[in-house]
Amino acid sequence: MTLPKKVKLFEVGPRDGLQNEPTPVATEVKIELIHRLQDAGLQAIEATAFVSPRWVPQMADNAQVMAGIRRKPGVTYPVLVPNRTGLDAAIAAGAEEVVVFGAATESFSKRNTNCTIAEGLARFAEVCAQALAQGLKVRGDISVCLGCPFEGEVAPDAVVRVARELDAMGCYEISICDTIGTGTPGKTRAAFEAVAKHISLDRLAGHFHDTYGQALANTYAALECGVAIFDSSVAGLGGCPYAKGATGNVATEDVLYMLDGLGIETGVDMAKLMAAGEYICGVLGRPTHSRAARAIAAKQKV
Ligand code: HMG
Ligand code: MG
Repeated sequence: MTLPKKVKLFEVGPRDGLQNEPTPVATEVKIELIHRLQDAGLQAIEATAFVSPRWVPQMADNAQVMAGIRRKPGVTYPVLVPNRTGLDAAIAAGAEEVVVFGAATESFSKRNTNCTIAEGLARFAEVCAQALAQGLKVRGDISVCLGCPFEGEVAPDAVVRVARELDAMGCYEISICDTIGTGTPGKTRAAFEAVAKHISLDRLAGHFHDTYGQALANTYAALECGVAIFDSSVAGLGGCPYAKGATGNVATEDVLYMLDGLGIETGVDMAKLMAAGEYICGVLGRPTHSRAARAIAAKQKV
């Protein structure tokens, strides 16, 4: 079995992480976090979301975040958009890449975006057409691919159906998301193998929340399938406001520790990444969720 030699880490901490914070996080803190993440070598940093501020108040400062980022050449700053309103605001704020987010189940689609899967896809078709016409790149995320908080098991075919639609609309990359972290390596493999029959593996990403402690195992299973793009969150920040009990994404530090150990290139510096994690955890007043960061920091204190 040959694993990929290089992996792209798609950092979602400033968006997926901070969207779930009960206390508001200052705009300057979000901007500083993004700067530290890019200084650590991350080349894709999901910066914010142009969603309804009534639904997700934590992302209400989206335009200010975009205005405050000191853009580094070679780094992309994708932002979430659910509809045309979000796209227009994202473009006005200077976004060059947007992320549309659908779901593999009807119940989750309704809870997260107040529409059916088909209605959501129709909105994304409009978003994609307009974004591509204006020279933006569009990524597609699919929630609840490995289990749904409302419907339970999710068949790989349900994931395939949405993935094919996003592909047909022109999404350059499609992320298979385990929103509530119930997936296990076998389910991960089944989902990726099913989607890879239609969309080439180099355009698929894994997005694993670590609620059940399976995220690293799922990451490894996806690596074995040939997946080489992973979404992760510094210090394991995050969750989803519309998936009760969902905890953060797999910690970027933990994924990096595993990839470094496997000799897989990422371009990310562990010491600088840990410093970014310590910075945001210091502001939030809580310890990191990254096991690797905790262990490395403890060793350094000895
Ligand atoms: P709705 O209430 O059905 O929207 O929400 P609407 O179209 O009926 O409009 C109602 C009001 O919202 C109007 O304002 C619109 O202008 C405004 P009013 O006339 O009442 O003053 N509005 C907006 N405002 C700002 N930005 C917008 C926008 N759109 C409409 N884009 C909507 C529908 C999709 C907007 C809402 O459900 C929403 O914002 N949902 C987003 C939920 C969300 O952000 N969830 C978390 C991110 S997804 C996630 O974390 C999963 C992921 O990590 C992958 C995984 O792990 O699974 C990506
Ligand atoms: Mg997520």
